[in-house]
Amino acid sequence: MIGLGQLLAVALLLTFLPAGLRGATTRTHLDTNAIRPRFSADPGRIINGTEASLGATRHQVGIRKALNDGYFFGTGHLCGGSLIRPGWVLTAAHCFVDQIIYDGTFVPKEEFIVVMGNLDRYNRTNTLTFTIEERIMQLDKFVLATYDKDIALLKLNGIVPTGHPTIRPIALSRFAIPEGVVCQVTGWGNTEDGFISDILMTVDVPMISEEHCINDSDLGHLIQPGMICAGYLEVGEKDACAGDSGGPLVCQSELAGVVSWGIQCALPRLPGVYTEVSYYYDWILKNMGEDGEGSGDDGSGDDGSGDDGSGDDGSGDDGSGDDGSGDDGSGDDDDGSGDGGGAMAAVAGTLTLLLPVILALRLIATQF
Ligand code: ARG
Repeated sequence: MIGLGQLLAVALLLTFLPAGLRGATTRTHLDTNAIRPRFSADPGRIINGTEASLGATRHQVGIRKALNDGYFFGTGHLCGGSLIRPGWVLTAAHCFVDQIIYDGTFVPKEEFIVVMGNLDRYNRTNTLTFTIEERIMQLDKFVLATYDKDIALLKLNGIVPTGHPTIRPIALSRFAIPEGVVCQVTGWGNTEDGFISDILMTVDVPMISEEHCINDSDLGHLIQPGMICAGYLEVGEKDACAGDSGGPLVCQSELAGVVSWGIQCALPRLPGVYTEVSYYYDWILKNMGEDGEGSGDDGSGDDGSGDDGSGDDGSGDDGSGDDGSGDDGSGDDDDGSGDGGGAMAAVAGTLTLLLPVILALRLIATQF
């Protein structure tokens, strides 16, 4: 579906980037080359994952550039995020960094929209779209050299109605997750072919203890308090990648991490790094106005969650219409459109790759 468009996009990238971005272009393809030889037989996604199921990922949201998405729904994809209350999303602060100035300055929140409700980012069925009413972060300027405090809390301009067929908040992990627990990371980010995915992908990654991550990976001292590692230290193989940022790392059906950074993707000794939700738990509750103890996880009732289950009602058929109703800002209805692709979509989609690509390269550049 994107054949021609992709070619065009790649040509564009190759043409423009070297000047401005010091070779950043090649990164996507370096990744590809680094990964593909070892997995040429595996058609997986995220990096070596599989398509996500709606039942297990109803909390997943996409943060999109409003402008791109306005041209063609789905093409503005920038980052992931998680719905943690009917009107609140947790994501990564670095998603909002201005990629032109690139000194850690944040782009105004008005330039983004938050979309949720469908695994296919081009499909509007059952989706709701919100603007950001309030964006709460711990920094005025992001520290690109450390990725410290890579967390952002978004108050949406409306709330997801209870009982929405495809959207449901997820509970927050209050305590640190022990090493070895297998968690799921999901996103529309880069797959092994070097392009972001149309369909939400998922991959299992085991939690790595702070001690092991610092001592046994090549990330060492880059791991700071509030960061956790997950992945396969020796083999790599499975990981989040560019474009998955801000998205959920779910352990035991609770949100334990926010995709933050990594050095390339899925390489041995270079696990993915996540913002640790339990570390910021109190800050998150406080800023949602849920101070006080006890309050527990009201709102987010996601317990059972059970994967698969309800299956993919939502996707596909129109008709069902969203019960979005209410005051939720823009909750759009579906109007067929959806896929279609075309050069325009592919180019715009690919351009969004620039953010994570540059971020990762800068990181490498600054750290090594
Ligand atoms: N910073 C990247 C982004 O903006 C996410 C990188 C995650 N990388 C990894 N190897 N786990 O999308």
